[in-house]
Amino acid sequence: MATDDMPRHWYEDYERGRPGYPEQVVDLAELAPSATALELAAGTGKFTRQLVSRIAHVVAVEPDPGMRRLLAASCPGVEAIDGAAEQIPLADNAVDAVFVAQAFHWFDNEPALMEIARVLRPGGALVVMWNVANGSAVPSITAVEELLAPIWPQDSGFPLDMMSGDWAPNAWNLPFAKKTFNQIREARLANPQTVDPVGLVAYFGSMGWVANLPDEERQPLVDAMRSHLTAAEYVLPWQTRVQWTRLSTPA
Ligand SMILES: C[S@@+](CC[C@H](N)C(=O)[O-])C[C@H]1O[C@@H](n2cnc3c(N)ncnc32)[C@H](O)[C@@H]1O
Repeated sequence: MATDDMPRHWYEDYERGRPGYPEQVVDLAELAPSATALELAAGTGKFTRQLVSRIAHVVAVEPDPGMRRLLAASCPGVEAIDGAAEQIPLADNAVDAVFVAQAFHWFDNEPALMEIARVLRPGGALVVMWNVANGSAVPSITAVEELLAPIWPQDSGFPLDMMSGDWAPNAWNLPFAKKTFNQIREARLANPQTVDPVGLVAYFGSMGWVANLPDEERQPLVDAMRSHLTAAEYVLPWQTRVQWTRLSTPA
């Protein structure tokens, strides 16, 4: 994952190339427009922007200063705070919902869930989501896949299905989670992403193993990817896997 010493182009590629999320995800929390929502690990603000358009008060917590810079630029009305899921810089009972997009797997499950429970108001909602692959790009990007194959990590699905795993099973089985939250509900929502060749190259450039190549290796790879992408646009068939629950009310 990114750290403050990731190259600057990584942040731009992330923002340009990674998919957003379906609008319906916000509905799952059943919030009044006057509600307060917290987004944890908000990154460059991809999901934050959707929250802002629907919810009156949005607080975004993001530990990476480079991500936070882009977040602040794209969501000027949002309070973008340095912090982590395991130590959320908010008061008890501060928010009606917590959202986490493509990031819950980075958290230390138990302390993060304890902090989420602490900042949520009674009955508050927790919504976590990941974009996972649901097929291949259209039109085909086989030529680009072949270019990337030698540097793609063995343990990551290739090239779009790297996020296809079950990311939070241990979290929901924790005794703390079972006694504190209602049973997890789950849905998969279609979330196709249409990108032009620049966006598709940015998507691949937002992978650490591409971003961290020395410039003299990365730039020729980027140029080669561009030369193979001759269509005007490509559709990446993401599905958003969303899991949601509420703080359980004591009997
Ligand atoms: C894949 S990015 C997702 C960013 C954004 N939510 C999105 O959907 O584009 C994962 C984010 O998690 C953040 N992150 C990693 N560990 C974290 C932690 N323990 N607490 C809060 N954020 C964390 C990273 O800084 C990064 O911005």
